[in-house]
Amino acid sequence: MKDFQGKVAFITGGASGAGLGQAKVFSEAGCKVVIADIRQDHLDQAMAYFRDRKAPVHAIKLDITDRKAYAAAADEVERVFGSPPQLLFSTAGVNTFGPAEASTYEDFDWVVGVCLGGVINGMVTFVPRMIKAGKGGHIATVSSWGGFMGGATTAPYSAAKAAVNNLMESYYLSLKAYGIGVSVLCPTGINSNIHEATFTRPKHLKNTGYNVNEKTLEVEHQIYLQGIDPVELARIFKKGIEDDVLYVLPFPDSQKMLRDNFERIANYTTAEGMKRQEEAARKRAAEMAQRQGGASPFAGAAEADWGKAKPDLSWVADSARAKRH
Ligand SMILES: NC(=O)c1ccc[n+]([C@@H]2O[C@H](COP(=O)([O-])OP(=O)(O)OC[C@H]3O[C@@H](n4cnc5c(N)ncnc54)[C@H](O)[C@@H]3O)[C@@H](O)[C@H]2O)c1
Repeated sequence: MKDFQGKVAFITGGASGAGLGQAKVFSEAGCKVVIADIRQDHLDQAMAYFRDRKAPVHAIKLDITDRKAYAAAADEVERVFGSPPQLLFSTAGVNTFGPAEASTYEDFDWVVGVCLGGVINGMVTFVPRMIKAGKGGHIATVSSWGGFMGGATTAPYSAAKAAVNNLMESYYLSLKAYGIGVSVLCPTGINSNIHEATFTRPKHLKNTGYNVNEKTLEVEHQIYLQGIDPVELARIFKKGIEDDVLYVLPFPDSQKMLRDNFERIANYTTAEGMKRQEEAARKRAAEMAQRQGGASPFAGAAEADWGKAKPDLSWVADSARAKRH
């Protein structure tokens, strides 16, 4: 897609971070934008920005894991802007950090539910409507570089994002016939509010094995402050959509990063490779430790027990209780 003038763009997570960056960039490019977000305060702040600019932007409070609410939001888009979107941005996502072995069902249900389930809900809700409208369009989904690999402290997130990558390739292959393009953005750090994701975690999914508290959230905040600016990221994504490429990797050395990544996988297939990979991991850890001595944003991570399990195993008892009821 190259011409965005007058197109309807629906953006989940559109009231903060990467999604708000997309709303700004695609609104400037002439789109009629719907921002859908679970947080009313984020929607209010974002709408103040767009009202000042008299931009055609509409806000919908939506939890993307709620399928009925998602269908109602799709109806609302058609009522307000007269058409299903030609651009669907599935950007909303959440994360939380802790060792894989401390992950509870609730950690998986929340993170996978939003990061993968929410994307699936967007596809099943909107793709048939887009096909029926017959105007073509583009699906633009935000995944993560973390979707290309597992992480010791990011099991639910890495699993969800890997699934999103493959999901998008599947839709890319099948939607060509309808003139609908598919792109998936895989960034590393973004300067966003994702450290606050835990505030939107549903009460019934609160049980976690991870150590999450004010200190760990502040460590995350400091890390994300170093990330790419959301508007700059949205401009890179826009170029990827214009070029109609499947993977949009916002790094100058993305080809090398991908080749190194596949070498990692190849290494994991032989005993010698496994040793090489362990050596590389040790080297990375040593470099990280050295950085922790300096002004690195990771400096507070060890003191805050960031990415660690809750020390008292309380989540194990909670999981056992959940099974009995
Ligand atoms: N921040 C990073 O470093 C980073 C890195 C790689 C990928 N990403 C991905 O970028 C995307 C955007 O995240 P961000 O960093 O801009 O975070 P952000 O928290 O600033 O924005 C995400 C928005 O999604 C909303 N949201 C959360 N759960 C929702 C739900 N169930 N329904 C509807 N809205 C919901 C939040 O309220 C928030 O406004 C996510 O998919 C995330 O996984 C982020």
